[in-house]
Amino acid sequence: MRMVDIIENKRDGRELSTEEIQFFINGYTDGSIPDYQASALMMAIFFQGMTEKERADLTLAMVQSGDQIDLSKIEGIKVDKHSTGGVGDTTTLVLGPLVAALDVPVAKMSGRGLGHTGGTIDKLESVKGFHVEIENQEFIDLVNKNKVAVIGQSGNLTPADKKLYALRDVTATVDSIPLIAASIMSKKIAAGADAIVLDVKTGAGAFMKTLDDSRELAKAMVRIGNNVGRNTMAVISDMSQPLGYAIGNALEVKEAIDTLKGEGPEDLTELCLTLGSHMVYLAKKANTLKEAREKLQGVINDGTALKAFKTFLSSQGGDASIVDDPSRLPQAKYIVELEAKEDGYVSELVADEIGTAAMLLGAGRATKESVIDLAVGLVLRKKIGDQVKKGESLVTIYSNFEDVEEVKTKLYENITISNEKVAAPVLIHEEITE
Ligand code: URA
Ligand code: CA
Repeated sequence: MRMVDIIENKRDGRELSTEEIQFFINGYTDGSIPDYQASALMMAIFFQGMTEKERADLTLAMVQSGDQIDLSKIEGIKVDKHSTGGVGDTTTLVLGPLVAALDVPVAKMSGRGLGHTGGTIDKLESVKGFHVEIENQEFIDLVNKNKVAVIGQSGNLTPADKKLYALRDVTATVDSIPLIAASIMSKKIAAGADAIVLDVKTGAGAFMKTLDDSRELAKAMVRIGNNVGRNTMAVISDMSQPLGYAIGNALEVKEAIDTLKGEGPEDLTELCLTLGSHMVYLAKKANTLKEAREKLQGVINDGTALKAFKTFLSSQGGDASIVDDPSRLPQAKYIVELEAKEDGYVSELVADEIGTAAMLLGAGRATKESVIDLAVGLVLRKKIGDQVKKGESLVTIYSNFEDVEEVKTKLYENITISNEKVAAPVLIHEEITE
């Protein structure tokens, strides 16, 4: 087989065979196929697309390019939740203990990564003592015992995807639905999930800015998952404004605690109940989505979900007393209110720009070397549709440096107040199961 023929086939719109896709992925991973041929193929795929069969083949070839996590020693159906990424997305912190309280095993492998705030691990590390450097056996034992545990990324998962993603980044071939879908799904499948619930974000703060693009990506991933034998569904949720109120690491842990107590922000609570219902249903712990939701509401109301969070934290060395006393979480030195300059209604809160404001405070990483400040961030006091009076706080800024003028300017530029009442954006756009 020759790589040049594979490129030509795709260039001319022919379907690649399973063997051709495996030949490419194996050769690119081991270095025998050079970047320039891989680039040409990526560009051909960008223009010609991929059939459903090609997408499944590409995903599996990438899964097989490296290690796969074996979760077979964990009892029950392992359901993983994946979000395509947004601003202030606190759902993972809430969902882990929430569905674990219903005996759904959550075996979460998580990374740190770049972004407006840290990843799930960074957020959890704002709990003193909490650590994710545990052995595989301990991880499996913890999930069997508590139904939820988090381990740091280790091993050589989907090296083909790592290499291809870096190449696509510099060859203008990231924005291809089949390539994005295969990239995301390969990582989930290699991480050992039996079933997958996808939270595909849409809007200003999302990777996919329009509903049409988000739907196409969601459908592509759901088809790949189901075609390779993992029960997969997707929720398309709003990311035009940040989710919940808190954007920051310790601040989001506090928000997760509130939500597990049933006192969290309305949108975050609703999204967690929606995603959680699908997780519980796919794990066969409820016969209908309605029953799943009622059970989730039940473990919030009776305190079982909050108790599961405490057990989870203390089992991995964390100080669980922060749950009853969140003032023991890292605290910022300066607390500054961003006051509204006029009366009206909040009509816009541009999610990605507000995320960038949190990053200016040090809540997230701009480069791999950046050090995160776990205490800092933003808490929104108003969301789209809320009425506001001049002088009232729009956002509370938590900072460890005194001069926050740059952050304030950024926030004022991205919060619009209008005279007319504006409706709150729809939170759950679609649920895709086929
Ligand atoms: N996120 C991924 O993991 N892969 C892509 O290709 C794009 C976004
Ligand atoms: Ca939040």
